[in-house]
Amino acid sequence: MGSEQRVAAETHVLTLPLPFQGHINPMLQFSKRLASKGLKVTLLSFTDKEWTKAAEHGSVNVQIIFDDTLFAEITDQEDTVYINNLYATVKRRLPEVVAKHGECGYPISCLVYDSLMPWALDIATELGLLGATLFTQSLAVSNIYYEVHQGKLKVPVEKTAAAVEGMPPLEIHDLPTFLSDLESYPLLLKLSAGQFSNIGEADWVFFNTFNSLEDEVLNLMARQCAIKPVGPTIPSMYTDKRVKDDKDYGLSLFKPDEESCMKWLDSREPCSVVYVSFGSLSILGERQMEEIACGLKMSCHYFLWVVRETEKEKFPSRFLDETSEKGLVVTWCPQLEVLAHKSVGCFMTHCGWNSTLEALSMGVPMVAMPQWADQTTNAKFVADVWRVGVRVKVDEEGIVTGKEIELRIREVMEEETAIEIRKNSEKWEKLAKEAVDEDGSSDKNIQEFVAKLICNSTSSS
Ligand code: UDX
Repeated sequence: MGSEQRVAAETHVLTLPLPFQGHINPMLQFSKRLASKGLKVTLLSFTDKEWTKAAEHGSVNVQIIFDDTLFAEITDQEDTVYINNLYATVKRRLPEVVAKHGECGYPISCLVYDSLMPWALDIATELGLLGATLFTQSLAVSNIYYEVHQGKLKVPVEKTAAAVEGMPPLEIHDLPTFLSDLESYPLLLKLSAGQFSNIGEADWVFFNTFNSLEDEVLNLMARQCAIKPVGPTIPSMYTDKRVKDDKDYGLSLFKPDEESCMKWLDSREPCSVVYVSFGSLSILGERQMEEIACGLKMSCHYFLWVVRETEKEKFPSRFLDETSEKGLVVTWCPQLEVLAHKSVGCFMTHCGWNSTLEALSMGVPMVAMPQWADQTTNAKFVADVWRVGVRVKVDEEGIVTGKEIELRIREVMEEETAIEIRKNSEKWEKLAKEAVDEDGSSDKNIQEFVAKLICNSTSSS
């Protein structure tokens, strides 16, 4: 090992994801990228569920900082006790972790933390570490929260449309849902706007996005702070293929039904399947489930539908008997493998940011059916800015009807519009891959971060 490689291997970074699947995945992938460039990386985990699998990947060490006071199962996202417990755990455990690694000859130089935990920067600073924040949502969404933080965008937004600098005109239903319905998730609104509370003090500000995807917002926000896109944070096998053995996220809080999904997809024609999933957190009403079932049936396409264990009781059971020839319903699937499968023709998605980036990076057209939080804004960009899909309309009762679902699926799978959407999807797939490939815009940002950390280590040793 040359001396430069040795210094890199001794440059030790801690990464701290929020313990939700949609936040773990981007932080873990960013960790793997840093490790692939020679750094020593330890990811701190709040939960001891199935995590050892990641440690087997070898490139990123996983250290559990689970604490008795912390509930691993999250039942109420509005629970301030839970957030307070996260804070108390990090406050208590981080000094121990930093001291221990220092004693073992691998001192920590930097903490990369999820932007929803801005207090982690204060703890890192007290310990003499550099601090880097990773935003796991889009720049567009974060720009909206930034306007709220600055008081430029007043909440609740009551007008039918909102003007946000650097963004296309936004209707109220394009904004993150908490901004018009303050009662719905007051804690999440506070956390989302709070991401910017100490942003000027962070040494680096990373985003899971890429330059060309959000160039206008990037140029605007870059005037206020040095933003570095490092995405899409998707396993390398699906993008540039440069990180060895990086085939999946590896840290799943849910158990995928891999074999039956892939076997079932293998037996279908190319581009014939509608893949349906609403991510790890969304909760659908019984009536909405019924309408989705109805829409899928009427579309006459094959479908693979993820209905999480906790959602199953609302599932219209007779639907399975009626459509057993046409569909497969599972409680969790290996989503990346599914999206990359040639049989998948479109993705009916809630537009969680990870799902959106995954579909975009693999060139899969989308039927956007946002549920809450940032998903509405992501859906706006999918349908109207990147034009890689269509968005369903909600009726006066807040329901997306079966007929609407059938029509939108047909629009993406069959009609003239499908050709244009597929062309756009291919364009974005190429750009996403370029961003993380050698000398791509995100790759350069990661490389620059690594070089600065190594340089710091050299000068302080
Ligand atoms: C949430 C928010 O919706 C999202 O917008 C935010 O930025 C992060 O937190 P979630 O709702 O779970 O996350 O959606 P998403 O961001 O799409 O993340 C879900 C992840 O689970 C994706 O990486 C997806 O590949 C994975 N997944 C989903 C599976 O592996 N299998 C499945 O069956 C479903």
